[in-house]
Formats: sequence, C-alpha cells, structure tokens
Amino acid sequence: MRHISKISDLRDQLRGQNRVAFVPTMGNLHEGHLSLMRIAATHGDPVVASVFVNRLQFGPNEDFDKYPRTMADDAAKLEGENVYVMFAPTERDLYPEPQDYRITPPNDLGNTLEGEFRPGFFGGVCTVVTKLFNCVQPKVAVFGKKDYQQLMIIRRMVDQMSMPIEIIAAPTVRDPDGLAMSSRNRYLSAEDRAEAPHLYRLLNELSKEVQSARPNGEQLLQLQAKYLATLQERGWKPDYFEARRQVDLMRPTEEDLSNQTPLVILAAAKLGQTRLIDNLEIE
Ligand code: PAF
Repeated sequence: MRHISKISDLRDQLRGQNRVAFVPTMGNLHEGHLSLMRIAATHGDPVVASVFVNRLQFGPNEDFDKYPRTMADDAAKLEGENVYVMFAPTERDLYPEPQDYRITPPNDLGNTLEGEFRPGFFGGVCTVVTKLFNCVQPKVAVFGKKDYQQLMIIRRMVDQMSMPIEIIAAPTVRDPDGLAMSSRNRYLSAEDRAEAPHLYRLLNELSKEVQSARPNGEQLLQLQAKYLATLQERGWKPDYFEARRQVDLMRPTEEDLSNQTPLVILAAAKLGQTRLIDNLEIE
C-alpha cells in the first residue's frame, strides 16, 4: 500500500486507473470502515481510502481537536484489506489557502435533523467530499448507511452536479449488542457503553409499533414523543427521534402513512459527553 499525502503524488499514482473504488474516512478505523473497504473491492479496482479529519465539518464547540487520530494503526488496518493507496493529506495539502468556495446542500435536506443540530456540518462534508472526489476521481465511492442523511446528501450532490461517480450504500455494522460502530464510541464511559445499545433497541421498538399500529400523523407524533421521553428518563439528551420518508427525508404526510411509503427512523442523542446517531429503515 502507498501512503500518499500530496495531491500531485496521488494523481501520479492513479494515472490510467479508471475503475477506482473510493472510501473516504476520518480515520480511527474500526470494523465498520473495513467493511466499506471490502464492499469497495467488489465494485472497483484498485481501492483507495482517504484519512482526513475535516475541520470544515466541525462546529466551534465540537470535538475537532480531540477527534481520535490513529494514523499508524489505520495504515496497518488498510494494509490488511489490500487497499492500494491510503490518501492522508495534511490540512495544508488539502486546504493550502482558505476554502472560500463551498458546496452548500439545499435547505430541506441540509438543515434538517443533523443539519439542524450541527449547523454547517453538511456544507463541510460536501465541500471536502467534492475535493476528495476531484483528487481521487473514482468510478465508485462507498458510504455507510449509519450516516443516512450524509449518504442521501452525497447522492443528491453527485446527481445534481453531474459527477460521474456511482455511490454505493453500505449496511451499518454493529457490535453484538446492537450498538452501531462509530469512532466516537471510544468516548463512552463503561456505564454509558452499557446503556448505549438502547438507542438501537428503541429504534426497533418504534419500528415495530409503526408497522403494527399504522399510525396517522397525530399518532406518529405521539409515538415519537413517547420515545424521546423514554430516552430522557434513561439519562439521554435526545436531539431527535423521528420517522421520515426514505426517499427524501421529509416528514411523512397522511397519504404516506396510509400508503405505507417506506420510512426510516433517525435518532441522535447525547449520552454523557458523547453524541450518538443511528437509524433504522422501516419497509
Ligand atoms: O463520514 C465521514 O467519516 C466523513 O463525514 C467523511 C465522509 C469522510 C467526510 O469528511
């Protein structure tokens, strides 16, 4: 595996490759990321992974400085997955001057759910992903469904900006107790780690209630409020716990609910100092 930090070296290394499968990451790789590498390998060749903690997607009070940086460990894991290039630019390599040109997702998709609680987050994600796509020029790129809204926003961006890249959605990888794998899980205290799988358990419970009760709009709001209250009672600080339409993440209309339009329940909540997100599709 080549470990490359400069954009010009990356371009030299990838010249002539027109089936590159790309996996962007912020490092601190776990089994969830490695599953993305394996999926990438089934869609293209060679596999290129990036490791870059992107300042632009962190709010002023978020964890940019303490975000875990584990480059040597990440390199060893990528080597084990037969990744061809680990592209790990420094901030100066990727942002040699202030990034004044930005990609801003549309309001309806970019400023709801995660976007409401992390203003500017998706603009930062879209800007860095566009830059990384321009550097790597992949044929396909793989994103995890764990970051459901991010996946949808990237798909729309690629489509609307006519980027010639196929976006592959990868299933969420979970610990045996159901907790979705995330680099931020390492912040959890032992007590919080024991509590954390409840987020997924509650997603499953709401999913079952929606499937069996077939609620109307008012009843769905009541159900969601019940789950928010349950999280609060268990010591979480929830931001949202909401069923949305899979197709566009809009709130389901009465018609959607009676027609059983595919929904996804998305949740974000803080446990101690750690903010966790998860989601579950209801078919
Ligand atoms: O999902 C992530 O790890 C990041 O948002 C991404 C896509 C690598 C952009 O920095």
